[in-house]
Amino acid sequence: MMRETKSAPRLHRSIWYMGAKSRLIPGFLERVLADELPPGGTFVDLMSGSGVVSAWCAGMYRVISNDVQSYSAVIARSLIGHSPGTRDDFLSALDPEADLARVYEENYARLAGYYEAALEEEAGFLDAYERGRADEAWAAGYREYLHASAALYPGVAEASIAEPFRSALPLLSDGESVAGNPACLATTYYSNVYFGLHQSLQLDSIRAAIDAVDEGDPWRELKQTHYLSALLHAASVSTSGTSHFAQPRHLSKDSELQAMAKRRLTDLRESLLEYSAAIAQTVRETVFTEGNQVFNSDYRELLDEDGVFQLPEGPGLVYLDPPYTADNYSRFYHVLEVITRYDYPELKRGRSGGILRGRYPVLAHRFRSDFCSPAKVEGEFRMVLRAVAASGAKLVISYSSPTGLLLKEFVRQDSSEPLERLRRLCGEFFEGVKILKRPTMHSGQGDSNIAIDELLVICSRPHSRSRAS
Ligand SMILES: C[S@@+](CC[C@H](N)C(=O)[O-])C[C@H]1O[C@@H](n2cnc3c(N)ncnc32)[C@H](O)[C@@H]1O
Repeated sequence: MMRETKSAPRLHRSIWYMGAKSRLIPGFLERVLADELPPGGTFVDLMSGSGVVSAWCAGMYRVISNDVQSYSAVIARSLIGHSPGTRDDFLSALDPEADLARVYEENYARLAGYYEAALEEEAGFLDAYERGRADEAWAAGYREYLHASAALYPGVAEASIAEPFRSALPLLSDGESVAGNPACLATTYYSNVYFGLHQSLQLDSIRAAIDAVDEGDPWRELKQTHYLSALLHAASVSTSGTSHFAQPRHLSKDSELQAMAKRRLTDLRESLLEYSAAIAQTVRETVFTEGNQVFNSDYRELLDEDGVFQLPEGPGLVYLDPPYTADNYSRFYHVLEVITRYDYPELKRGRSGGILRGRYPVLAHRFRSDFCSPAKVEGEFRMVLRAVAASGAKLVISYSSPTGLLLKEFVRQDSSEPLERLRRLCGEFFEGVKILKRPTMHSGQGDSNIAIDELLVICSRPHSRSRAS
């Protein structure tokens, strides 16, 4: 029998993220958890992504959250990294204007000094769009402006810098952050690509202000996490791309230019305030348990030398929500990762030696998950199944059928019943295996608007031999 949760926590308004489980929690994951894990137990969100599941669970359980992407860990920390005893004092100490405004203004003014003419031109284009004057002449002018900008990136040769960007030469030719320069990563890497120019200056200036939160402030670290998380939310929903950063829009169609202009009207400073309030609200409404933790690593690093998860005493459940397809998150969300690390990474170059349109960091800076590799995905599932079974915890897996890479691999290898094969695989480690399905329309991760089943695979009663192997 399924138990109803008494007072369901509110869902956090998450970043735009492929595979975020916001729609799967109400009435589905919620019911499974109510049945499988008693309140006060330990919930491990092994790949927490947008953090929406961790945040939701923090109202009922001690939550241990992990993801290999740094932006994801920052977001999870901002949502669940709170103590019941100090949470309210922290929330009352939040004051974005007092904490960030001075350094923001300083950095913005210094950056604007390099981009005066270009900012003015952009403001003209966006204003015309807002007033409904985005006609053919507008599109031709905006396209030309964006073309001139598309050739710019850190380290670019002086000859490639056209008007109105020539005054930015000193920043662009440095190629990386140079002591004494204003914070300029988003501006030099992404302006007029994934964000507008004004938005990029805002992004850098907010980021600089977050780094500079007063060292004497007792809440410094928590505030920095909170504001950075709010900035990541704001950046995520302001991308000039569709809903991620896998590639910038093409400039050929007028409709694309208009879609871009619309996004570029978003004021990132206002959006930061909105998301800061939204995160604070989620935190305020959560009744926390002591002992939440957030990790930022490949899940393998959380295993001991015997390949076992070491969990706190008491009932525990591991939730595995891996990538479903061959698309790596580090490609779709590289911009969020770079904004988080703010380390001016080297950018990948194409065969001709130029920077790629997508402005991806070189592969050394991008994590590639074996859940996205057809040859390795089964091995990854096995590793998690073994590690969880050996720890004595339950395991709940989110996956998608028939689009999940592992299921496609099973079909390719000969199985006409991929779900049965998944059940058998889980059965190697757990006695109890149940597969629940929820039909849904799916978009993102490369498969747009097709009917699929969202699966929850519930694994309980680990075989004792899993402990020994
Ligand atoms: C489907 S998303 C998770 C979505 C999340 N449950 C939510 O509701 O937003 C998959 C996540 O797995 C993470 N990931 C992939 N391979 C990983 C690994 N080996 N270790 C840790 N995290 C990994 C990705 O960074 C991504 O955030």
